[in-house]
Amino acid sequence: MIDQRNTSFEADDIGCNNSANTAFDSVLKTFLSRRGMLKGGVGTAATLLLGGALAACESDDDVAAPPPRTLELNFSPVAKSVADVLTVASGYTASVLYSLGDPLAAGVSNYMNNGGEGGTSFMQRSGDHHDGMEYFGLGANGRLDANSSTRGLICINHENITQIFLHAAGPTTVAGVRTVPDEVVKEINAHGVAIYEVARGTNGAMSLVRDSAFNRRITPNTAVDLAGPAAGSAFLRTLNSPTGAASRGTINNCATGHTPWGTFLTCEENWAGYFRRAAGDDATRGGSTARAVKALQRYGIAQGASGNYGWATATSTDPADRSFRRWDATQSGASADGSDDFRNEPNTFGYVVEIDPFNAASVPRKRTALGRLAHEAAAYGTPVQGQPITFYMGDDSRGEYVYKFVSAASWSAADAGNGLAAGDKYLNAGTLYAARFNGDGSGEWLPLTLANTALTGNTNYAFADLADICVNTRLAADAAGATKMDRPEWTAVHPRNGEVYVTLTNNSAAIRPVDKVDAANPRSYGAGGNVNGHILRLKETGGLGSATTFRWDIYLFGSPAAAAAATVNLSGLTDANDFSSPDGIWFDSQGVCWIQTDDSAYTSVTNCMMLAALPGTVGDGGARQVTNTVGAATGTITTQVGATPTANNLRRFLVGPKGCEITGIATTPDLKTMFVNIQHPGENT
Ligand code: FEO
Ligand code: CA
Ligand code: CA
Repeated sequence: MIDQRNTSFEADDIGCNNSANTAFDSVLKTFLSRRGMLKGGVGTAATLLLGGALAACESDDDVAAPPPRTLELNFSPVAKSVADVLTVASGYTASVLYSLGDPLAAGVSNYMNNGGEGGTSFMQRSGDHHDGMEYFGLGANGRLDANSSTRGLICINHENITQIFLHAAGPTTVAGVRTVPDEVVKEINAHGVAIYEVARGTNGAMSLVRDSAFNRRITPNTAVDLAGPAAGSAFLRTLNSPTGAASRGTINNCATGHTPWGTFLTCEENWAGYFRRAAGDDATRGGSTARAVKALQRYGIAQGASGNYGWATATSTDPADRSFRRWDATQSGASADGSDDFRNEPNTFGYVVEIDPFNAASVPRKRTALGRLAHEAAAYGTPVQGQPITFYMGDDSRGEYVYKFVSAASWSAADAGNGLAAGDKYLNAGTLYAARFNGDGSGEWLPLTLANTALTGNTNYAFADLADICVNTRLAADAAGATKMDRPEWTAVHPRNGEVYVTLTNNSAAIRPVDKVDAANPRSYGAGGNVNGHILRLKETGGLGSATTFRWDIYLFGSPAAAAAATVNLSGLTDANDFSSPDGIWFDSQGVCWIQTDDSAYTSVTNCMMLAALPGTVGDGGARQVTNTVGAATGTITTQVGATPTANNLRRFLVGPKGCEITGIATTPDLKTMFVNIQHPGENT
């Protein structure tokens, strides 16, 4: 039932946590005595509109009802499918709202889907690979109206490209060199973010407002500011910004977030893969023990890397144009600080970037205080007047960590609507933490500060200052002793109880062999590793800002329904709700949890999907022993498992076409329209 994982390049799978920091340190110690000894070592991307009364309804259909009443799922589950179609639950309709290449300005021609458009035209067209997405209600005054379901702005990430579909005959590469610069311009511009207006027509359907003044593309070339502790530091100085105060654009934007004050957050994930670095660059920078080299290696930017799509090999017709050469991070200049080359260009990516969707002229700000990771979503804890604002974040690579940022400033509801100025107040100063999950269901937030002696006392990498921690966040979390996780993807906060959910999409046999499971990442099975992923949740045990401890359990384990209940199908999934590789997770305003998959392990049985769930609370299940066996290796670990889902609280709502990932979700405030992204359908066909 379980396919082997696709062995071709998959950017999300990159793992480079080679720290000595063990994944199972305290966890394993807790349970080692009870363990047995080991015996062995797209054609397109599209946003869909789903119409109908949405899947979860209050028992009396009053969607504006207060929290205490009971929710019910009232749709028939959609069957698993490998058909090359989109299927939604009976009674709902789906239509395409926004596809690759769609015009975002008046006078821009319709997309031809034959590679005929020029590269610069994508500055006014939809990018590729639709990913995370947020809906902001738009008022008649052009400002945020949180209750508007008739007019809104959608902010959407364009994470990546399927190169073959963008050009008439695929990309042109001669002897390793991109010889057609306009192809590269198009590929760069098809990345980034889009903001577009939608309006509800008289027929009730939402459509894109092509000539809206709010429509905007933010590409990897758009001017951006660097903000927070690392701004202006030597880490961020480049030929484009010798002061380190600014950079250009954003790339590989995966999941999203928004803020309590009404701005959009876009998160840079697999940015590291775009950089070329020449063979021999380690020696130029002082050798393998040099801090700069350790930093590059920790983020997976090895010397000799050619960079995704070979952009750095293209030559612009304009000698002053640095938009290609900036993707070559080789140290080539004579300066001490990197202000005469692009050796530091990778340090300008990997952030949560704040954008004001209501001001098309505003300059996006990279919030370095939230750390430099393969960022996934940034979900805030329920704001409390007079308390700090918290954001929960995952770092999606094999064996990376879960993080929390706590603002130094205390929340004032009067800041709502204040745009990037409010962001300056809450997102430029605070404390970043990494999570450690203990085997007994407790957890700790480990501060990534110079006051933490685990950081100052570590012998691997000497942190110079807070800017260093913000730029080299993974090294800081290594030193702090965070728990290596099975690829943290999205985070989400339950609106009714404030519990924090984290999808852990899957992991490989190399990172998660039987003898390196832990309570929070407890499975290694089949050919090894955690093939189907799981969803962890945590509950803070103190106040929002002050909590440095939490309780956790595993809400759901992805699994084929037919897999062994004692070892793999630990959540007792059935044919009506089995899934693999959870990625997107999002709560609607009523508390329905929507789960989206990005899978390649179960795709012989079903395409990727979206489920609706009504989760309970941390601790509603209990401790469970799991015995893992891979070949001759075996071991038993105790984990914490949530209550077994039922046919009433976990159902499959949607199955996508072949080859796609289901990702990105938003609704109008009235819950009558849902927006869902279908990323790279058919990319291998
Ligand atoms: Fe872009 Fe980790 O998904
Ligand atoms: Ca994702
Ligand atoms: Ca993914």
